[in-house]
Amino acid sequence: MNQRATFGLIGAGGISQSQHLPSLTQARNVYLKTVCDLKADLLALAQRDYGIPQVTQNHKELLADPEIQGVVIATRADSHVSLAIEALQAGKHVYVEKPLGETVEECHRVLPVQKKSGRILAVGHNRRLAPAYQLLRKAILAHGGAKNIHYRISDNYYVWGKSYGPGQRILHEVCHIFDLLRYLVGSEVTSVHCVDSRPDDDLITLKFESGCVASIMSSGYVTQDMPKESIDVVMELGAATVVDFVELRTFGLDDFEPVYRFAGRWHPQHDMMHRYLFEKEGATALMDLRRIFYEKKRRLEALEQSGQQSPERRELEQYVRTQAPNPSYMENKGWLEAIEHFADCILDGGPCQLAGVEDSTKAAMLVQTAIRSRSSGQVVEVGIG
Ligand SMILES: NC(=O)c1ccc[n+]([C@@H]2O[C@H](COP(=O)([O-])OP(=O)(O)OC[C@H]3O[C@@H](n4cnc5c(N)ncnc54)[C@H](O)[C@@H]3O)[C@@H](O)[C@H]2O)c1
Repeated sequence: MNQRATFGLIGAGGISQSQHLPSLTQARNVYLKTVCDLKADLLALAQRDYGIPQVTQNHKELLADPEIQGVVIATRADSHVSLAIEALQAGKHVYVEKPLGETVEECHRVLPVQKKSGRILAVGHNRRLAPAYQLLRKAILAHGGAKNIHYRISDNYYVWGKSYGPGQRILHEVCHIFDLLRYLVGSEVTSVHCVDSRPDDDLITLKFESGCVASIMSSGYVTQDMPKESIDVVMELGAATVVDFVELRTFGLDDFEPVYRFAGRWHPQHDMMHRYLFEKEGATALMDLRRIFYEKKRRLEALEQSGQQSPERRELEQYVRTQAPNPSYMENKGWLEAIEHFADCILDGGPCQLAGVEDSTKAAMLVQTAIRSRSSGQVVEVGIG
């Protein structure tokens, strides 16, 4: 039996350098044969750092290779739908980064093609497969379902000067949480209410068919010393919380341990300190490492502003750019697990836990509904208007 599925990767930019290239080359069941990007320098990097056998600047060449079974598409959102359709029509199984499409209408174009192709289309809502969230889901299923949830997803877009513009954070970040909450609750959202205090500081409440209610705090203004994400879930009786994928605590769930800790994300270009510390010390280690990173980065910025060259500056540059991973990527958010599961589905045909076209279309519908609610100030029924 073939133990490895042969893959191609289209788009070797930021997320591929930090996640897909390490995952695809480390996965137990993947052989990454070809990488495609429009930029020759990124292809040279992929060959140098990961020994990729074949590179091309033309995705049609990659899709024409009959050996390639699975394609990961990690270009920007505006080309996801067209490339996914082309890949499905070429007979490939597709793992496409989120969001599948920028609108519901765009997502609708994919379903008939995917059905006709008989191939898998999975969308990169990797959080579903994060080990901490897999265990959380197990606890929810064993304890009468989720009744009340609070999710915080916060980042420092404005410190980076990286705002996408009002509403775009909902499309690019909160879309993950819409998908995750549907997966954890196992029910559909019926209504959405979104209020904001300023652009990219939103509070979104959701009601589910099951009766569960959820709130999502999304902020683009926190600093990197704060854990990026956390979730609190109240079940029939008892509760669980997860801090940034590294620590799950349970309350009143007698068949679960009170605390579980999860190793951090492995990356070949960074030291592994965080990986082992998270496994051993959980959220405490995460907070400390985030604080250290934040303080060193601020000190580096001050030295850069002063224009001063010094051994301290060189040491800090080395730390911030190479030794430490981006603090938002130290945690295990399920990237490797998602790719390995996708390859298992290709090889063995088992049921796919990843978001499919319909899930992703529902995430796009929730994005549109939240943006409409924020403009009108009203609670908006999903799918109406
Ligand atoms: N799952 C996650 O948590 C997560 C995190 C970050 C980004 N993303 C998603 O990943 C996607 C990529 O983001 P990024 O930050 O890596 O973008 P990026 O711009 O850094 O990289 C995109 C790359 O695609 C290449 N490209 C574009 N069109 C191409 C084509 N036709 N053929 C070959 N290459 C092509 C570009 O040259 C570029 O190098 C986005 O959709 C983003 O939303 C997901």
